[in-house]
Amino acid sequence: MPEFLKEIKRTHDCGALRGTDAGATVVLFGWVASRRDHGGCVFIDLRDRGGITQVVFEPHTSAPAHALSSELRSEYCIGLRGVVHDRGERRNPNLPTGEIEVHCTELTIFSRSDTPPFEIADDANANESIRLKHRALDLRRPSLQKNFVLRSQIYQTARRVLTAHKFLEIETPFLVKYTPGGARNFLVPSRLSPGQFYALAESPQLFKQLFMVAGFDRYFQIVRCFRDEDLRQDRQPEFTQIDAEMSFVIEEDVQGVFEALMAGLWKDILGIELARPFPRLSYAEAMGLYGSDKPDLRFGLPLCEVTEVVRKHDGGNVEMLRQVVSAKTAGEAPVVKGWRLPAAEASKMSNAEIDKLEEFVKGLGARGLARARIGAGGAWTRSPMKTMSEGLRQDLNRAAGLQEGDVFFLQFGAPKLVNTVLGALRLHVANKLGIVPAGQWKFGWITEFPLFERADDGKLVASHHPFTSPMEEDLDRLESDPASVRARAYDLVLNGNEIAGGSIRIHRGDVQSRVFRAIGLTDEDAHTKFGFLLDAFRHGPPPHGGIAAGLDRLAMLLCGADSLRDVIAFPKTQKGTDLCTDAPSAVSGKQLDELHIGLITKEP
Ligand code: AMO
Repeated sequence: MPEFLKEIKRTHDCGALRGTDAGATVVLFGWVASRRDHGGCVFIDLRDRGGITQVVFEPHTSAPAHALSSELRSEYCIGLRGVVHDRGERRNPNLPTGEIEVHCTELTIFSRSDTPPFEIADDANANESIRLKHRALDLRRPSLQKNFVLRSQIYQTARRVLTAHKFLEIETPFLVKYTPGGARNFLVPSRLSPGQFYALAESPQLFKQLFMVAGFDRYFQIVRCFRDEDLRQDRQPEFTQIDAEMSFVIEEDVQGVFEALMAGLWKDILGIELARPFPRLSYAEAMGLYGSDKPDLRFGLPLCEVTEVVRKHDGGNVEMLRQVVSAKTAGEAPVVKGWRLPAAEASKMSNAEIDKLEEFVKGLGARGLARARIGAGGAWTRSPMKTMSEGLRQDLNRAAGLQEGDVFFLQFGAPKLVNTVLGALRLHVANKLGIVPAGQWKFGWITEFPLFERADDGKLVASHHPFTSPMEEDLDRLESDPASVRARAYDLVLNGNEIAGGSIRIHRGDVQSRVFRAIGLTDEDAHTKFGFLLDAFRHGPPPHGGIAAGLDRLAMLLCGADSLRDVIAFPKTQKGTDLCTDAPSAVSGKQLDELHIGLITKEP
């Protein structure tokens, strides 16, 4: 008797057979997705990563196979040989293999399965924690299998495109020196150097700059990065970047390569030709128009800045507005911004629904949401700002282009909060009303980011990282007005997601020292922290720049998934735990001793 695996080898996967294969003898391996006993003959759906094939066991085709098929249950792993039959009238148009079924002549059961903790089906509503705990079973689901086939294609295309652009693939260490600033690092204790720690690399940033000094003038790597951050839908503590660095370039050169990479991915994976170059928008424009540095460009409905209009009228009899435009603050001056929802869309929202938006913005930290429905002749109805002067109202109508039937939302205060609130409101209402068009891919570069931002303690910190080059035309303000200096940094956004970010770096020692000084680092501090890079930079660093794309985010968007967890094989939960392997976990006292670590137990 020929044996499965030794002599009887797989001929097709479970998604391959079509009507034209009728008559062929085939061998399939896979898992029993479902089983139906029709009295006399048994039907199963056999599943593997290729798809699903219907298999029939009949006594007259093979009595032993038919007898054994009575033992089959969900998720048994089996192998079978059989003959392909056209299903004729009984074709299933919903299945790629629906034209055929395989009539089994030989069956083997490789292994049996306990009753699975949940049904392996895409529409099953098993709780996510149970799925993550039994991740190997969860990963058998056809939609997840598809996601990982697609994810694998991203690696292939990225390597093909970047290699064609003459990039070298070189690895960098994960266990690195701790450098402060940027994302919070995971620390790894060193057994051989008591009391000392490595950090897990948050990105290969400094190493790839060393590669430029080394003369590897086009580097890339598909690399795991580790950041001990608070997690959200689009963040994981370990994630993958397509990371690149180039010498002798300006912004457009780096951007051009990543546009080619995106074009390659969309062509290979979705068969879509992307129009290039992608549009560019400065950070100031993006914040002004959309209140966000990762705007969703699939629809318009921009915000409008009306601070000056309100100032002209000294608040127009509305005390809160008057306070905003007359405020004397040390930091950024408060602003007044508005958002117009045109009548065609506003008519789809009841007054109660509009009132409910106030709760939404309060969740973002706003104190309230000033709003009005525009009536005949530009009158403001349902507005809480009843005392507003006629002059201010008319000027606001003009500035925001308000028409009868529109709803107008106003927000005032610190620019950061105003932009956060109105930017989120724009997205929230657009999603609610179905304004965001489906099936569109709107890429855009956001450029000219501020070089610095203020940390919670008011101190300046580098917005990107301290090796990002200031814009040449802003260099003379580095000491006098550092907050106004723009960086040669750029992000690539897609449908409201930041999918890549990078910058042209500083290669001049004098500029680097000035940037360090601006963030309060003396030359000595800088040397302790980044000495290895600064030393290398004393030996002819080339002008260089680079970028990194979030591979997981790209995979999520290309798959149409809602969460990074659907494109990462073993993802972490919101609390940073891996439910499948149960990490993190306690370790023994002996292990801690070896690492020279003592645990302090705090009183609850
Ligand atoms: P940056 O920190 O902007 O740049 O990261 C680049 C891209 O990586 C993705 N990303 C993440 N994806 C999932 N989970 C996370 N926690 C996470 N954090 C970031 C985003 C982001 O755009 N060294 C620089 C790049 C450079 O300057 O060349 C860097 O790491 O899509």
